[in-house]
Amino acid sequence: MKVLIIGGAGYIGSHVTKAMALAGHEVTVFDNLSSGLLVNLLPAAAFIAGDIRHADDISAAFSRGFDACVHLAAFKAVGESMVEPEKYSVNNLSGTINILNAASASGCRKIVFSSSAAVFGSPEYVPIDEDHPKNPESYYGFTKLEIERILAWYDSIRGIKFAALRYFNAAGYDPSGDIVGLERNPQNLLPIVMEVAMGWRKELQIFGNDYDTRDGTCLRDYVHVSDLADAHVNALAYLEREGKSLAVNLGSEKGVTVTEMVEAARRVTGRDIPARYTGRRAGDASSLIPTSALARSLIGWNPRLSDVDTLIKSTWDVYRTYRTPTERA
Ligand code: UD1
Repeated sequence: MKVLIIGGAGYIGSHVTKAMALAGHEVTVFDNLSSGLLVNLLPAAAFIAGDIRHADDISAAFSRGFDACVHLAAFKAVGESMVEPEKYSVNNLSGTINILNAASASGCRKIVFSSSAAVFGSPEYVPIDEDHPKNPESYYGFTKLEIERILAWYDSIRGIKFAALRYFNAAGYDPSGDIVGLERNPQNLLPIVMEVAMGWRKELQIFGNDYDTRDGTCLRDYVHVSDLADAHVNALAYLEREGKSLAVNLGSEKGVTVTEMVEAARRVTGRDIPARYTGRRAGDASSLIPTSALARSLIGWNPRLSDVDTLIKSTWDVYRTYRTPTERA
């Protein structure tokens, strides 16, 4: 299929682009490079520079004729979304509407959407299944949930079939080393641990050690980005085969605490990684663990790389090639 990958120069998008190309699709990346990186653009993909906030940019791209699109172009900083909601409204919400209108006008009837565990808010029970109540606790999470609802309307009115993929904690890097871009100003645990291991930060702050978990630090489900990328390929095949929309949770079903992640990172990297317990970070849930049974049964998805050692080693293998964080930005 001819597939347009919107946000394909970003961290997850570049892995999705690689997986789609390997699956035999003809891929084109659309990205404004606001957080995406030129170094992430793969030779197998054509590139269109453009911005989803500009309806003309995205319409021009769709007019080239695509059978399907993957939409990963979003701001994703939970804390920032509570300070600057306007930014999230314009990019995540209006930008997606621009995409759907352009897809609709051009006859593109399949979309794979990067949703998030943030649609659920604090869990009322674990593991979280797809029917778990959806009460996002950030404006970012709200935009993802709202887009899922808009997708459902475009399905029923325009016949656009969607796959909403709710990622839990994405981590890791392409194990064959084809993708080496480092996110600018990372906010997530593993990139921060790597920056401490590299000596770019003095220490890791562990946000809270009084949670109701096995060692008091937060429990998360880390899933390898290449496993997530495979889910996009499988989801697109499902849309083609079944002609039905779906929303699934994507996690490894292996809970790891912050302390366990740091200890594993010390072992795998051989570095000290100084860490200090500090107070809780506002908005952090104690445990965020999904069941991915539905993804297994509907799209045949089985993560292969999401064990802690592979997550850390594949990330470390990229970081250790840098002298400074911005060297290849
Ligand atoms: C958050 C969002 C998720 C979003 C993801 C990517 C929620 C509930 N989750 O996940 O939807 O897709 O970010 O941006 O909004 N930690 C430290 N020290 C640090 C950094 C993190 O101890 O310096 C801890 C956090 O407290 C947390 C764990 O590490 O327990 C993982 O944090 P992080 O990588 O930021 O992801 P989430 O907050 O789980």
